[in-house]
Amino acid sequence: MSRSPSSASGPLSGRRVLLVVGGGIAAYKALDLIRRLRDRGAAVRPLLTESAQEFITPLAAAALAGERTHTDLFDRESEAEIGHIRLARDADAIVVAPATANMMARMATGHAPDLAATVLLATTLPILIAPAMNVRMWLHPATQRNLATLKADGVTVVGPNEGAMAEAEFGPGRLAEPHEIADALEAMLAQRAQAGGFGFLAGRETPKRLAGRHVLVTSGPTHEAIDPVRYLANRSSGRQGHAVAAAAAEAGARVTLVSGPVALPDPAGVTVVRVESAREMLAAVEAALPADLAIFAAAVGDWRPAETRGAKIKKDGHTPAPLTLVENPDILATISARTEGRPPLVVGFAAETDQVLDNARKKIARKGCDLIVANDVSAEGGVMGGLDNTVHLVARDGGVETWPKLGKEEVGRRLVARFSEWLAARPG
Ligand SMILES: Cc1cc2nc3c(=O)[nH]c(=O)nc-3n(C[C@H](O)[C@H](O)[C@H](O)COP(=O)(O)O)c2cc1C
Repeated sequence: MSRSPSSASGPLSGRRVLLVVGGGIAAYKALDLIRRLRDRGAAVRPLLTESAQEFITPLAAAALAGERTHTDLFDRESEAEIGHIRLARDADAIVVAPATANMMARMATGHAPDLAATVLLATTLPILIAPAMNVRMWLHPATQRNLATLKADGVTVVGPNEGAMAEAEFGPGRLAEPHEIADALEAMLAQRAQAGGFGFLAGRETPKRLAGRHVLVTSGPTHEAIDPVRYLANRSSGRQGHAVAAAAAEAGARVTLVSGPVALPDPAGVTVVRVESAREMLAAVEAALPADLAIFAAAVGDWRPAETRGAKIKKDGHTPAPLTLVENPDILATISARTEGRPPLVVGFAAETDQVLDNARKKIARKGCDLIVANDVSAEGGVMGGLDNTVHLVARDGGVETWPKLGKEEVGRRLVARFSEWLAARPG
């Protein structure tokens, strides 16, 4: 690339990024992304689809990137100067932001009718996509199928975020913020470098380590009803549990995901059982057994109201309604203690705000499970509801593995890989 980045010492210094901009309402944010990537030291070459040019101009992208913008597959001048095959090679990574539903479909099916899709098909570079679209387009089975295909092909995905959208709708579909996309790009490049392979093909094969196994996963919070309109809950988003379930399915397992109330799409290829309360979750877990591997990632409410009122409790203006709590069943301990039908590997999650490892070791002894995945959920860490996680794997013998901060999807994949090894090493 001709033009130097604006920061020579940023975390992306020396990196060359081909930025493909799709034709979505969020295309304007790609301009801010160009600025942020350059601030972090990257050189950015923009490529706009025909639809993207309805939302932003090639001139604006070129001015911010300090690079010419590529737009046309059959532009003879451009093809002579730097052809589509060179565009597909002459960078360290390709970022697609926003990735439209149409673009995801072209990528997943290998259709190449335009410059962007042709470059994406011709490349072996690592690809990061940041999808953005209407919530129903995102949740449509076709888009979810395409998403699963792209992930299986080794494409990294950031977002979409949840929130208010155009047409007064709410849900997942908003483009990840430019700083989140830049963070995800840094993490992707760091992971590829660590894995020793820089190519797109390096991450392509998902080994089917769990073929023929049944994996049971719980995820999300529980809601414990106070009356028909109120409940006790917690801040769990379900992202980590859902990511583990998705990774287990990618690894070839038959997966049952018992999920509390979450605002996440169902992972591809997974049977999802939706529940609300801890008692419903336990019943669904017991109904789903036998399993080879049970991963209890849900943030199950410890307590529930002693009684659930059939009618809404009225405020009387004087005293607050007294709330008596009773303990919920302990799903992890109940399943770990089973003499018959106990899954050969039972994994618990421990969300702790202090003394994370000490508490995890005590928990493993108290609950009788085989492994604990411990994480620090104190407010500063932003794990609850966030996109990243720093986990410690604690074994029954007290051994600990601590992993660096990773995206929850990557944590899910690595956990599944480790559990597969443990499962393979266990007798019976
Ligand atoms: C006003 C408007 C906003 C749009 N916003 C989106 C969007 O946010 N996400 C999306 O996937 N498609 C959106 N579309 C539809 C795409 O522009 C359309 O599918 C197009 O073919 C995408 O082309 P591309 O993938 O080559 O950029 C929008 C269309 C219009 C007219």
